[in-house]
Amino acid sequence: MSVYKVRYGTPEEFVPSKFAPAPKCEIIEAMPEGLKDMEFKATKRGAIFRMPIEKDTDFFGFGLQLKGINQKGNKITIQNNADPRSNNGFSHAPVPFFITQKGWGIFVDTARYAKFYCGKQKKTVYKDVDLNDKKYVASLSTDELYAVKDFSVDVELIIEIPYAEGADLYYITGEKILDIVMQYNMLGGGGCMPALWGLGGYYRTCGRFNETQALDMAKRIREHHIPCDIYGLEPGWQTYAYSCTYDWDTERFKNYKETIKELTELGFKLNLWEHCYTRPTCTIHDDIFPYCGKSLVFDKGLVPDFTIKEAREIFASKQRDLVNDGVRGFKLDECDGSDITGGWNFPDCDEFPSGMDGEVYHNLLGTLYGQVNKMALGNLRSFQSIRSFGALCSSYNYSLYSDLTDPHDYLRGLVNAGFTGILWTPEVGGNSNTQEELRRRLQTVIFSPQALINAWYIEYMPWEKFGCEEMVKEILDLRMQLVPYLYSKFYEYYRTGKPPVRSVLCDYPGEDFFKNCEDEYLFGDMLVAPIITPAKGREVVLPKGTWYNFFTGEKLEGGKHYIETNDVPVFVRDGDIIPLAKPVEYMPEDVKFEITLRAYGDAKDASFTLIEDDGVTDDTDYREITVTMNDYNIDSFRYEIVGTEEIK
Ligand code: GAL
Repeated sequence: MSVYKVRYGTPEEFVPSKFAPAPKCEIIEAMPEGLKDMEFKATKRGAIFRMPIEKDTDFFGFGLQLKGINQKGNKITIQNNADPRSNNGFSHAPVPFFITQKGWGIFVDTARYAKFYCGKQKKTVYKDVDLNDKKYVASLSTDELYAVKDFSVDVELIIEIPYAEGADLYYITGEKILDIVMQYNMLGGGGCMPALWGLGGYYRTCGRFNETQALDMAKRIREHHIPCDIYGLEPGWQTYAYSCTYDWDTERFKNYKETIKELTELGFKLNLWEHCYTRPTCTIHDDIFPYCGKSLVFDKGLVPDFTIKEAREIFASKQRDLVNDGVRGFKLDECDGSDITGGWNFPDCDEFPSGMDGEVYHNLLGTLYGQVNKMALGNLRSFQSIRSFGALCSSYNYSLYSDLTDPHDYLRGLVNAGFTGILWTPEVGGNSNTQEELRRRLQTVIFSPQALINAWYIEYMPWEKFGCEEMVKEILDLRMQLVPYLYSKFYEYYRTGKPPVRSVLCDYPGEDFFKNCEDEYLFGDMLVAPIITPAKGREVVLPKGTWYNFFTGEKLEGGKHYIETNDVPVFVRDGDIIPLAKPVEYMPEDVKFEITLRAYGDAKDASFTLIEDDGVTDDTDYREITVTMNDYNIDSFRYEIVGTEEIK
């Protein structure tokens, strides 16, 4: 496993690595064997790279790709966009990093709309190819015809970075895809470590609500015992939202300080919606004005240039006031922009005072914005929402979300995001048409980084129209049972870069089925195969070996199975211990979990490591507490093991 860095030509000034935390891996500045055939040219079009690749090379990664998994043969453009419509690379979080199943991956240190041709046919003198194969002629569908790709001729990887005269390429090697992914994450400073409460229930309430309504809803959540740690206010808390003032609307939130206090006393962590486009009536407007781009966004919103220290500090100072009042996180919206829905964001040719242009800033903004709001939180850990990210951002405590609600896309996001250092939450909105749809969406979101219910445009809880609160509580309780498990998996992410949610292919490289599987993924080490269409069950493919149904304990061997269930199909590897907590409604700092250790199969040599820390700050000490099925008498303020269960 190694990370090589090779410089080609002259790299640009504004690149992801310039703003990333210090790498936590060794970087070898030498030409690796794998790049020796890379041709590089600095041209008028920009920097162009070409390299022959093996014909059967598959490509994974490129950030939060909602429309496709294996990009073999495709053209992927790394362009930030809130409304991806097809599998062309556009994404809330596009990342110029891909992994192959051949033991290598490449990260291109650029914020440009770089294009990756993932196996382009090369001009060839044909020798052993049957040129009279007529199989495509009879097709009547353009989709089929356009999908024609021939990998029997020589193919190459082509990367084009517009305007650039060069770039640093990081060539990352590793035996498994997971090794390569982990090294990429360590290059970005390691994985993030959210606040413990960040893994609990997360409810965003109606944006039209005033103080009384918002508080009433919060109280109802408690009265009804619906697990919830994070309570989010949407645009209506501000005096003006498109663009933002970051000031409380004191007509609608007259006693906002009292409200924050009350919410805090109820055990909620308040999260506020915002975006960074700053309104003339905002108190920091005049100070930040010199450090903003030339174009405005939404109604008169300035676009702060967060590559400039002054802009970062001025903006963070405003958010810090909110944190000092008791706010514990933000939802950083609209930092992606769209080329499809009206082009509402700043232009690609915009000019920023640092010298950066709009194109580059589109791909950097989410990451930099996330950093600025973290400055406001100081050493407080949180787990926040952001709508755009980019390269090298694994260490930031944010998960992505989207307005695009297609359950297939949402599930694909869970498979894909972990390839390139980002977290993705398939939030449950107010749009479920049936109780069944709501159930399936909830079952998916609890097996994701955040258990997020975003009711921003409805005045009731999404399940009220179906009268199925018990079902919802049961699903959210399951999430709460799994919090200690997930926390340990985040700790691994933080220390080693191993993503808590990832493609099955990461861990099971020989299993070719998962190269194109869009609807199964790993949550920690459990395999999750959500049911997202109205159905009694679904087909599930398990990697080789013995597995157990998490709920029923049924023993299954690797291969194809039809699983009929009202639960979400979840499977545990033979020999794994899962710590299950007695569900709590929320997690105050001194929360203590009563844990049952559940072992699946032969777990006599197995152990599980629980993580004990203060749960809320960056400078806490982490204590690793390892338990086995025979030895679990622990002295911990966070956990008490109250029993064991064995599933054979
Ligand atoms: C959207 C966001 C939604 C909601 C809404 C409020 O951009 O994705 O979740 O916050 O703004 O205006």
